[in-house]
Parts: sequence; structure tokens; C-alpha cells
Amino acid sequence: MKAFVVRPGGPLSGTVRVSGMTKNSGLKQMAAALLAPGVTTLANMPAVADLDVMVNVLRSIGASIDWISPTEMQIDATGDLVPEAPYELVSRMRASINVLGPLLARCGWARVAMPGGDNIGSRKLDMHFRGLEALGAELSVAHGFIEARCSALAGARIVLDFPSVGATENLLTASVLAKGETVIENAAREPEISDLVELLTLMGARIDGAGTSTLWIEGVEEMRAVHHEVVGDRVEAGTLLMACGIAGGDITLEGIRLEHLEMVVVKLREMGLQVTETPDGLWARADHRLQAIDLATLPYPGFATDFMPMAVALLAVAEGTAIVTENVFDNRFGFVDELSRMGADVRNEGRHAVVRGVPRLSAAPVRALDVRAGAALVLAGLAADGETTVLERTHIDRGYADLAGSLRALGADIESVDR
Ligand code: UD1
Repeated sequence: MKAFVVRPGGPLSGTVRVSGMTKNSGLKQMAAALLAPGVTTLANMPAVADLDVMVNVLRSIGASIDWISPTEMQIDATGDLVPEAPYELVSRMRASINVLGPLLARCGWARVAMPGGDNIGSRKLDMHFRGLEALGAELSVAHGFIEARCSALAGARIVLDFPSVGATENLLTASVLAKGETVIENAAREPEISDLVELLTLMGARIDGAGTSTLWIEGVEEMRAVHHEVVGDRVEAGTLLMACGIAGGDITLEGIRLEHLEMVVVKLREMGLQVTETPDGLWARADHRLQAIDLATLPYPGFATDFMPMAVALLAVAEGTAIVTENVFDNRFGFVDELSRMGADVRNEGRHAVVRGVPRLSAAPVRALDVRAGAALVLAGLAADGETTVLERTHIDRGYADLAGSLRALGADIESVDR
């Protein structure tokens, strides 16, 4: 079994470069590359484990993938595509569903396995379906597969019930080749959406409104293959800032933009972490135990749900009591039982958790239930007396290029083991 072993090692210090955001941005851009019959290059794409799944999805569809450097890949979608994504792959990674929009737009049909639920909640697809139907597709679900067909997609006005990241992405990548104008209201505003819009625009799409809740898309006849650099990973950066809050110290992060982390930084500053923007990133210092504050997750620009588990780990050793509310996913507090095994005082009821800070945690073997829950346990290990073993590390490797390496570069005592 793969695990991380963490020992408390005193305050952090040093400089690290944040990786590109493969999981929430790059994978979606790989799917979008299917829109262009040509060779698209994506740079700043470190190899997280989920990337292998998308590589296999694209290969099964008929694209060929080549690595031209450790963080740069070429996707050749020149030939005819077989627009089908099998269950073995889709069930391993939900973001595989992002091939639906591009395949429908390019091939006029697609057959993609239904992804199913996962450890953080039920994660429906109704908004993806309703939006694609508004664009003229016919959808059905049979025998565990989504079958989508259209003779031609046509622009439409779509109002999302909720600013879903995945639905916004699928609708964007379908509508760029639709005839006429599409308007997506209540669209997601995450930096990953803006990054996708940047790629699509380079490819020839005409899109306005990235970063706002209304996206206008004027359909074009064809898309061309391009070179694009994926945005820096704001979740990795936020994780390292919270590590600094837990362990104390003084760190510099390069390759990240403050504007992508604004609400996290606002909240961490309220807790007592000093954070300053630098020309290429952020500098942070914690020279005392942080103060508890209440947190509630919301779509961007609110406090992102991806930071919530790590924030709970930070609050677990902060001074005072906090109420944490999860508004995006319906089952994201499973990890608090693991954190409690380390001596954290966390009570969870439905979408809320009460976290009473304790001065120190106590190391224990714990299990990563999902990528961010796993990262939270690693951070907790920085403030736990003894040796914390975070089992099922593969969950963490799905989304972080080298979490242990980044923490080690900042002076933390952490190693990756195979047991
Ligand atoms: C993406 C991110 C994830 C992040 C989340 C919210 C990736 C790989 N994952 O997930 O890390 O936490 O955005 O920022 O990029 N929903 C529906 N119907 C739909 C679509 C969504 O009810 O058709 C619900 C989901 O069940 C969930 C909520 O909307 O409760 C948010 O989902 P969404 O924003 O779509 O998240 P993902 O794209 O799955």
C-alpha cells in the first residue's frame, strides 16, 4: 500500500514553484483538444495520476498522445474519432464526462458511460443534459451509458440552476461549434473556466464573459489545434499556505496568482496568516497559532469546497471554535472521522461541522478518502506528535503532482512509502 509518513518538523521555510493545474484544468483542456482535427500541445501539465485516465479515454476515442517533455503533451486528434468512452475509464475519473460536449460538437454523436457517485456526494449531471438538449441534442441513458445525438447543434440561451463547473465546461465545448449565439447564464466563474476559454479562444472560438456569470458564445465553423500553457494550481497553492498556517514558518510560492486565491487569502489573513503578493506569486508567514473563524464553501469567487478539508485540519489546531458549512457537495465530511483519530475535536452534522481547536494533534495511521481529504490528513500530520501514516496515498496522487516533494522543499519531514 502506498502511504505518506509525516513527522512534525518545526516551522516551514523556503520557496517552491506551484505546479500547473492538471486535474481541474488540464484534463478538461485535453478533452477540448478533440474539437480540433490537428495536434494540440498543452504545457505546464505535471503528471498527476488522473492524467493517465484521460490519456486512455482519448486514446480509446482515437486520438494519439505523446509526451514531448515531462510536463508537455501533444494530442493528435487529426483522424476520425470513435466517440465512445468506456465505463472502466469513466468510473475511475469523473472528469471523463468532459469529452461529451466536444464529441457531440465534432462527431454529431457520443456514447459515454455514466460516471456514478463518489466519496464526496451524489454529483448529478442534469444540468449537463438539459443544456445539451437546449443546444439541439437528443440524450438518453440506457444500460449505464449516456447516448447523445444531434444533426446539428444550434445556439440557445441556457440558464443553469447552479454554477456547475462541469456543466459550464461541457456546454462551452459543445456550443463553440454550434450555429449562432449561445448564452450561458449563471455560468461557473472559476479560474479553470477562464483558462478553458483562453484555450478555446486560441483555437478559434468566439467567447465573451469569461470570469463572469454570463458567457456569450458565437459559434464558428471549425476549431484549430494550438499550443497552450495550463494555469497554475490554486488548490496546491492553497494547500501549501494552509501547511504554513499549521506548521508555522515563512514560505514563498511561485507560479500562482493572488487573484485566483483571493477568498482563501482573505480568510487565512483573518485567521492571522500574513500573506503578501510577490511579482510571481505569494509570500506567507505564520509566527503564532492561528485564530479560528467560521467558513462556508461557495462557488468561485467564494471559498472553494476543494479547500474545505485542509481548512478543517488547520482549524483543528487553531485557537477557538469554528463552524464550517459545506454548500457545494452533500457528503464531504467523511474525513473528519480520520482527523478525530488524530485527536481533532470535530463534530459533524449534515452540511455543518463544529471544530474546536486543540493545541496539538496525536499521530495515528489514517486513510485518505479522496484527494483533498488526504491532503488534509498530511497537513494534520505536521502538527501531530509522533509519526502519522496517511494510507491510500493514491487518492492524493490523483490531484497533486508531488505534494510530499513540495512540503519537503519547505523543510517538512515527509516521505512517500510503499508498504
Ligand atoms: C469540479 C472540480 C471539483 C470542484 C467542483 C466545484 C474537477 C475535476 N473537479 O467538479 O474539484 O470541487 O468543480 O468547484 O474540475 N450538480 C448537479 N447537476 C449537474 C452538475 C452538478 O446537481 O448537472 C451539482 C453536483 O452534484 C455538486 C455541485 O453541483 O453538488 C457542484 O458540481 P460541479 O460544479 O459540477 O463540480 P464538478 O465539475 O463535478
